[in-house]
Amino acid sequence: MQRRPRRNRKSESIRGLVEETQVSVKDLIFPLFLVDGRNKQIEVNSMPGIHRYSIDLMLKEIESCMNLGIMAFDVFPAYPETLKDSIASESYNPETFYLKALREIKKRFPEVCLMSDVAMDPYSSDGHDGLVKGGKILNDETLTILGRMSLAQADAGVDILGPSDMMDGRVGYIRDILDENGFIDTSIMSYTAKYASAFYGPFRDALDSAPKFGDKKTYQMNPANSQEALIEADLDVEEGADFLMVKPALSYLDIIKLLADQYPLPIAAYNVSGEYSMVKAAAEKGWLDYDRSMNEILLSIKRAGAKIILSYFAKDFAKAQK
Ligand code: PBG
Repeated sequence: MQRRPRRNRKSESIRGLVEETQVSVKDLIFPLFLVDGRNKQIEVNSMPGIHRYSIDLMLKEIESCMNLGIMAFDVFPAYPETLKDSIASESYNPETFYLKALREIKKRFPEVCLMSDVAMDPYSSDGHDGLVKGGKILNDETLTILGRMSLAQADAGVDILGPSDMMDGRVGYIRDILDENGFIDTSIMSYTAKYASAFYGPFRDALDSAPKFGDKKTYQMNPANSQEALIEADLDVEEGADFLMVKPALSYLDIIKLLADQYPLPIAAYNVSGEYSMVKAAAEKGWLDYDRSMNEILLSIKRAGAKIILSYFAKDFAKAQK
C-alpha cells in the first residue's frame, strides 16, 4: 500500500495541521428574544436554555456573552396579542419597547454588531410576514410597511437589517429608502433562500407568532427546490444586499455550498430553532453528546461555505472554547 490516508490522522498534532475548517466565536451571531417590562427572564418551553429577557436582563446577558467573545446579536421582540394589528403598526412606533431596547443596547455597547429582523409577523394580528387581504399575502403593499419598519430600526441604531419576509423586491426597496434618508451605512443581510420549514416551530412558540391561518408557502421557498435560490441570490446581489443568508442551515447545506461557490458576497446560515431544540432534547435524554453534536453541526455549516452562522448554540459554543 503506497497510500495510507490514516498517516495524516495518527496524532492530535498532525490532525491539527491538516484540519481545514475552524469555527470561531467571531463567526457567530446570537439570536436573543426580548419581552417588555423589567426583571423578566422566561425560558422558552420548546428551547431549553434559551430565554425571553426584558431589556435590563438582556443587557446583562449581552455583557456576559461579550465576555465570552460574542460580538454580534440578533434581537427579536415578543409582542402581546393586544399590541398586534393587521398593518403591524407597532413595528414603526418610535415609542415601542422594542425600538427603545435597541437604542439602549447600542448606547450601552456601541461596539456590538446589532441585527434585527424586518418582517411583519411579530407585530401582525394575522401572524404572517406580509400584509393579508382576503386570505392573500399582498407583496407590494407590504413593502411600504417594511420600509417604515426599516427606517425605524436604522434610526434606533441597528447595524444590519435582516429582511426575513421573502416579499419580492424588498431588498432594493429597503436599500433605496435607507439611502434616501441618509442611512448609507446600515447593512442588509437578506434572508435570500428562506425555506417554508417545519424547523421554525420553537421560534414561533418563543414569539407567539405562528400564522393564524394557512402557511407561509406562497412566500417562503419550497424545500424541494435549489434553482430558485440562484434567482433569489441574483436579485439580492442586484438590489444591494451586503450578505446572503440561507435558512434553515442543516437540511440546506447544499444550498449554502451552491451560493458560496457562485457569489462573492459573504454567506450566512441560520441554524434555526428546531435544529437547536432537537439536539437539546436528544441530549437531555442522554441520546447524544451535546457539546460534540453542537461542534459538529457548526463545523458542517462552516465547511459547506457559510462564513457567518446565526445560532442558538453561540453561547454554549463560546463557553466550551474557554
Ligand atoms: C420571521 C422569522 C422566523 C424566523 C426568523 N425570522 C420564523 C418564520 O419565518 O416563521 C425563524 C428562526 C428560527 O426558527 O430560529 N420572519
